[in-house]
Amino acid sequence: MALEAEAADPESLAGFANVVQGNPPDTTRSVTQINRRDSTFVETEKFMSRIVVRAEDVAKVVETAAGELVILDGINLEIQEGETVAIVGASGSGKTTLLGILAGLDSASRGNVTLIDAELTALDEEARAIVRGQYVGFVFQAFQLLASLTALENVMLPAELRGESLAESKARDILEKVGLRDRIGHYPRQLSGGEQQRVAIARAFASDPTVLFADEPTGNLDTHTGERIISLLFDLNKEFGTTLIMVTHDTRLAERCDRVIELTAGRIETQETNA
Ligand SMILES: Nc1ncnc2c1ncn2[C@@H]1O[C@H](COP(=O)(O)OP(=O)(O)OP(=O)(O)O)[C@@H](O)[C@H]1O
Ligand SMILES: [Mg+2]
Repeated sequence: MALEAEAADPESLAGFANVVQGNPPDTTRSVTQINRRDSTFVETEKFMSRIVVRAEDVAKVVETAAGELVILDGINLEIQEGETVAIVGASGSGKTTLLGILAGLDSASRGNVTLIDAELTALDEEARAIVRGQYVGFVFQAFQLLASLTALENVMLPAELRGESLAESKARDILEKVGLRDRIGHYPRQLSGGEQQRVAIARAFASDPTVLFADEPTGNLDTHTGERIISLLFDLNKEFGTTLIMVTHDTRLAERCDRVIELTAGRIETQETNA
């Protein structure tokens, strides 16, 4: 996987915070703050047609021992606020790389990416972290839970870092929603793959994101649990207008999205709007 963030030491609190929350508490120099849950109705209406993610001619090229490898090439897309989008494609087609670039976790080699009102490609890692902290929830393909924290503490962390006083009760609430009420004291190594995935989803929910990026959010779940998580994701979309951008191989999930974008060898092959 191509995420720079994955190079961060998963055991380091700072590294984790950087990934999940965004870096310094100094938000005074940040981009315009828009907190969905504080928005008035007037604002919500105004946002209906707001583009929250825009990619223009985005490419990702990396140096390998065998020479230059083009992972993404000429990606153009626009995603509206409140839209639900599935990114599909074969293994190695660049889905995780694209998700990371759109979320500001990774940088593009060429082109422009705009997230809400921030031109990500013009920002350094520290500034991108601030933008992520304000707007982004991210569910990693490999979960990225902090091994030294319990399920509850992992989910609480983003809200705690924001200084929210109700971090714990909120985290308990969300963990219950993903069906983990009796696992909140477990450390990641004491959780099954599917349980870890649900903790990762709960953690992303806990930051009240404007845009939720999820890399294979149902990849490790049985049919029943998968359905439950899909419902939760779409409830979040309905209730708060959260934009969902998800990489998936799960046809049930893709079918429920407004739009399906198919990547083939780093290019957008087709875009279909679901009826
Ligand atoms: N930093 C890197 N250096 C070299 N090659 C990379 C790097 N990151 C990703 N790749 C390669 O780029 C391609 C796309 O990787 P990516 O993780 O985006 O694929 P994916 O579509 O998410 O696949 P999967 O469905 O298996 O998760 C892969 O062939 C991968 O090996
Ligand atoms: Mg992937």
